Amino acid sequence: MRAVLVDEPGDETHLRVGEAPAPELGPGDLRIRVAATAVNRADLLQRQGLYPPPPGASELLGLECAGEVAEVGSAVSGWLPGDRVMALLAGGGYAEEAVVDAGSCLPVPERLSLEEAAAVPEVFLTVFLNVFQLAAFPEGGALLVHGGGSGVGTAAIQLVKAAGGRVVTTAGSDAKCRRCLELGADAAVNYREGDFAKEARDATGGEGVDVVLDHIGASYLESNLRALRTGGRLVLIGLMGGAKAEINLGVLLARRLSVIGSTLRTRSAAEKAAIVAGFRERFGAALASGAIAPVVDSILPLEQVADAHRRVKASEHFGKVVLRIAGG
Ligand SMILES: NC(=O)c1ccc[n+]([C@@H]2O[C@H](COP(=O)([O-])OP(=O)(O)OC[C@H]3O[C@@H](n4cnc5c(N)ncnc54)[C@H](OP(=O)(O)O)[C@@H]3O)[C@@H](O)[C@H]2O)c1
Repeated sequence: MRAVLVDEPGDETHLRVGEAPAPELGPGDLRIRVAATAVNRADLLQRQGLYPPPPGASELLGLECAGEVAEVGSAVSGWLPGDRVMALLAGGGYAEEAVVDAGSCLPVPERLSLEEAAAVPEVFLTVFLNVFQLAAFPEGGALLVHGGGSGVGTAAIQLVKAAGGRVVTTAGSDAKCRRCLELGADAAVNYREGDFAKEARDATGGEGVDVVLDHIGASYLESNLRALRTGGRLVLIGLMGGAKAEINLGVLLARRLSVIGSTLRTRSAAEKAAIVAGFRERFGAALASGAIAPVVDSILPLEQVADAHRRVKASEHFGKVVLRIAGG
C-alpha cells in the first residue's frame, strides 16, 4: 500500500510517499480504506524521532483517519464493509489502509465528507477526555484553552460552547483571536501582548476559570495556576514551552488546585473505547446536527505531506490540515 515514510528522523524533507506492507487484521479490528488523514502536532515530533509510537502500534505517522470499512474482524459486530468510518489511531493514518480496534471507531455523520471527518477524532476526543472526563468540566463552567486556532483549540471552543460553558482562549495574532471569537470563544487574548491570567479572571468576574487546557507547560505554569478559580484543574497535554518549572506548592494547597497530566495515544484499546463511547453519548447528536464541526484549514494531497507539516510547524493554519489519500 502507499504510505508516507520517514527516511530518517529530521525535518519535512525526510518525508516521502512509498510502499509499506498492509497491516494485519485482528479479531477485534476494522480494516479501513483510508480516504483522508489529518496532521497533528505530535506527527512533527514523531517525524523528528522525538515521539515514538507506543509498543505494538504502527510505525507509520498518523493519529486519525476517515474512510470506508474494507474488512471486519471476526469478533466485531455493528460494522459492515462499505460503512463510512472515522477512527482514532495510535499510528498508521498516513497510508492507504489502517487497522484499528473497533472501539476506536465512530460512524461518519452524513453531513461530513470523509476529508472533514478525518479532522475529527484526535482533537475532539482529546478535548472530551481532558476537559470533560479528567477535569470534570462543570455545568455552566469556564475554560481557558491555549492556542485557540489549533486543532485542539478549535475543538475545545466548540465543545465547551455546546455544553453551555464559557471559553477564554489565547492565540498568537489578532487575526487568529478574531477567528476564535467568530467560532464562539467569549474572550481571546493575543498572548504576545496580553496577560491571559488577568483576562481569564476578568472574564469570570474575578473568580478564575474552572479548567485550563494547556499544551505549553513550564513557561505558562505560574500564569495557568493564577488563571484558575479555587478548586480549579489544570490539564497538561503538551510541553511546547518546556518541561521543567518551579512552583510554590503552597498555592496548590491554599487554593485546592489540581494539576493533571495526560496522553491519549498511549492508552489501552479499552480506555479509548470508553472515551469514544462517552463522546458519542454526550456530543454525537451535536456532531450529527452540525452544532459542532471540524474546522478544516486546508486539504492537501498526500504527495504534499511536507508542505502540510511545514504549514503546521509555522502555525500558519487555523484548525486542521487534512491530507487526501484516496485517488491521490
Ligand atoms: N496529550 C495528549 O493526549 C494530546 C493529544 C492531542 C494534542 N496534544 C497536544 O496539544 C497541542 C495542540 O495540538 P494540535 O495538533 O492541535 O496542534 P497545532 O494545531 O499545531 O497547534 C499548536 C498551537 O499552539 C499555539 N501556540 C504556540 N505557542 C503558543 C503560546 N506560547 N501560547 C499559546 N499558544 C501557542 C499555536 O498557535 P499560534 O499561531 O496562535 O501561536 C498553534 O495553534 C500540541 O502540543 C499537541 O502535542 C496532546
